[in-house]
Amino acid sequence: MNAPDIVMQSYGRCCASATFFDDFYQQFLQSSPEVRAKFTNTDMPAQKLLLRQGILNLVLFARGLPPTKLQALAKSHSRENLDIQPHLYNYWVDALINTVEQHDGQASMETRQAWREVLAKGIEVIQSGY
Ligand code: HEM
Repeated sequence: MNAPDIVMQSYGRCCASATFFDDFYQQFLQSSPEVRAKFTNTDMPAQKLLLRQGILNLVLFARGLPPTKLQALAKSHSRENLDIQPHLYNYWVDALINTVEQHDGQASMETRQAWREVLAKGIEVIQSGY
């Protein structure tokens, strides 16, 4: 199976796990004061729903869809808008992969590697719009 397909199946198992998005944000917010500072005024239940789609957009891009949705994320996260500096994506990726490992009962080294590869491709698009 190729990396995007491995990730799609793994993501399906994660989404079926009731606390996946709660646990992701708990880890992500814990990872750095810089990250916490960005979410002080955020409606977190709404944010969790938005992220569900955001991750799907990264996976679909790796599967060959055009980068349109990621370019919109690049714009909202750019220095003129949310001002998300490129290094903050490292915290995001680490928190996500740790959370996947906790929630996907079938996760292996191959799954972890596939997630890294798929996320890196799309995040490059978002970071390049900073
Ligand atoms: C908002 C996805 C990385 C901070 C959003 C939204 C989505 C999203 C879908 C809502 C729609 C929008 O504003 O465009 C993602 C994805 C990421 C990512 C897929 C990884 C590739 C980050 C990182 C930070 C961050 C690294 C750094 C702290 C925020 C903030 C908001 C936001 C502060 C606005 C929250 C509010 O409404 O108060 N993100 N994001 N995001 N994101 Fe991200």
